[in-house]
Amino acid sequence: MERVKTGIPGLDDMLGGGYLPQSANLVEGAPGTGKSTLGMQFIYNGIVQYNEPGLIITFEEFPQQYYHDAESFGWDFKKLESQGRLKVIMTSPEVTRHDLESVGGMIETVTAEMGVRRILVDSLSQFERLTTDPMELRSLQYGFINALKREGLTSVLTRESLMLFGQQEDNENSLAFVADSYLLLRYVEIESAIRKAMLVLKLRGSDHAKDIRQFEITPRGLEVKSRFEGHEGIMSGSPRRMSDYFEEAFLKG
Ligand SMILES: Nc1ncnc2c1ncn2[C@@H]1O[C@H](COP(=O)(O)OP(=O)(O)OP(=O)(O)O)[C@@H](O)[C@H]1O
Ligand SMILES: [Mg+2]
Repeated sequence: MERVKTGIPGLDDMLGGGYLPQSANLVEGAPGTGKSTLGMQFIYNGIVQYNEPGLIITFEEFPQQYYHDAESFGWDFKKLESQGRLKVIMTSPEVTRHDLESVGGMIETVTAEMGVRRILVDSLSQFERLTTDPMELRSLQYGFINALKREGLTSVLTRESLMLFGQQEDNENSLAFVADSYLLLRYVEIESAIRKAMLVLKLRGSDHAKDIRQFEITPRGLEVKSRFEGHEGIMSGSPRRMSDYFEEAFLKG
């Protein structure tokens, strides 16, 4: 089956080859886990490796910071924009909502003009600003995601999770149902050091890796590494060595 490759070392393998074409892909994690990096890398690789023009919609308040972050990985967004292969739009959820509700809006226009194939929305959490009604929020997000699909775009949608360690908070999580895939980025503490872990929770209509992998943010971007060998309880945020369990069981026994 045809796949939209992220080109991120190790990630396509986890995804059974890459994202599905025209799918909406949720990337969730605590502050600083690497959501924006993953999204920017998906767009950057799409342009330079797969010749697929990209669009980035960000609600960040400091545009220059965004370009600067990309540059620190060696990704020259300004240059790609001047070549007409990338567009970075700093906007607000209010504007974006209106845009998608009107025919021939900004996203539609840019997509048609540039032949955009990939989009990053960083972050979808900002939509929560639009309403306090969970039903309305769900319908807004659903409408937005479907509009992106109608445009034929493969999207990465980031979402902030406030939880630094441990289990998923049990607030409204309808996005996880609406999205075609769901990737979780986590901090874990192992032997007094903080490391990062990722897990594919869902990938619609396809097989995917079920194990938890380590990843790192390097000067070249995100890189997925090996599994956490010999540790249990990774997603609890404070994993333990398997040998601890054996020792405990042995000493108690
Ligand atoms: N050039 C670089 N080389 C190595 N690591 C970097 C580099 N630039 C940023 N980082 C690391 O990447 C992390 C930030 O990643 P990113 O901005 O993608 O996170 P985020 O999940 O989007 O955060 P937020 O929730 O604040 O938006 C930082 O914690 C930093 O350690
Ligand atoms: Mg970010």
